[in-house]
Amino acid sequence: MYGGGNVFETMKATALADEDPVKLAEFEARIDRGEKIEPTDWMPQLYRKQLIRMIEQHAHSEIIGALPEGTWITRAPGFKRKLALMAKVQDEVGHGQLLYSAAETLGKSREAMLDDLVSGKSKYSNIFNYPAFTWADSCFISWLVDAGAIVNQVANSKGSYGPYCRALERICAEESFHLKYGHHCVIHLATGTKKQREMMQAAVNRWWAPMMHFFGPSDKISVHSEILMRWKVKMASNDACRQQFLDMYVPKIWELGLTIPDEKLRKNPETGEWEFTEPDWEEFKRVINGDGPCNKERLAVRKLAEERGRWVRKALLAPKAKYVTPLA
Ligand code: COA
Repeated sequence: MYGGGNVFETMKATALADEDPVKLAEFEARIDRGEKIEPTDWMPQLYRKQLIRMIEQHAHSEIIGALPEGTWITRAPGFKRKLALMAKVQDEVGHGQLLYSAAETLGKSREAMLDDLVSGKSKYSNIFNYPAFTWADSCFISWLVDAGAIVNQVANSKGSYGPYCRALERICAEESFHLKYGHHCVIHLATGTKKQREMMQAAVNRWWAPMMHFFGPSDKISVHSEILMRWKVKMASNDACRQQFLDMYVPKIWELGLTIPDEKLRKNPETGEWEFTEPDWEEFKRVINGDGPCNKERLAVRKLAEERGRWVRKALLAPKAKYVTPLA
């Protein structure tokens, strides 16, 4: 539906039919045995393509994700918060570095990936296309968006592609500090003055729908899940991650006296599953295809950073200048 489901099915069937069946069977047997696939190992073209797509989007999400929080560094309340937020934003950009490096092992250059980001060809996470109006928005991102990311990344760090898994392990370790920092910030506001509590509640109200979208379309309409799960790139489906997030964090949000803007949200005692209002997938589709509240602004900032940093990249790649002493 989002990438053209039937078209993808046909492409997948054709791509797999083109592969050497013996090599394909060996590759799948390795995956079934839980072995890691490394960059120089044989892999089907579709595995390579899917990994590049997913890791590249993930890398873009890290560097674009630094933008809404980055604008709060100078306005964070107090020196300690400024220091912690600055370190967090720096970590996120570092995660981008790790992920671009992992994607490069599959044959796409970093320059090509960044070009595809700026031109709008590549996607990045829906959630970073919303504005962080208040300090509480920044706190929501640090706690709950990072919590959602951890749910997804801990699962996928046990996946099949070595460089991606190793990057995810390191990222998860750092994200767990972000989570604690974000939780502390939210507790502070949720147990603070009336104005602080209202500001935190307004942030939860604003971010809940994008948060539900964050895990991707429901399994019924997800395009890539089936093949990614067969090849253990994705170790949990979109719905499974969403359920795990709700299970772990809804009680914590309620515990702080905050409400969640969904009247249907409840845990079904018989199935143990969370029930909720079906997210608006049309809105999701609009946002991931470039028409969210901040898409244009985010890409414009990225473009500016690319342009302003060009001389640095050029200088780094230039042959070493010959040192000539002034008196020689
Ligand atoms: N934001 C933006 N796009 C999203 C999205 C989201 N939250 N969730 C899904 N999509 C896009 C997919 O990229 C895909 O588009 P494409 O075919 O043009 O690439 C389309 O919606 C269909 O979704 P689906 O078939 O479910 O994609 P998927 O199997 O790749 O699953 C993720 C989507 C995000 C769960 C998966 O790619 C993933 O786990 N990525 C790594 C983690 C990550 O990027 N986290 C984000 C920031 S920390």
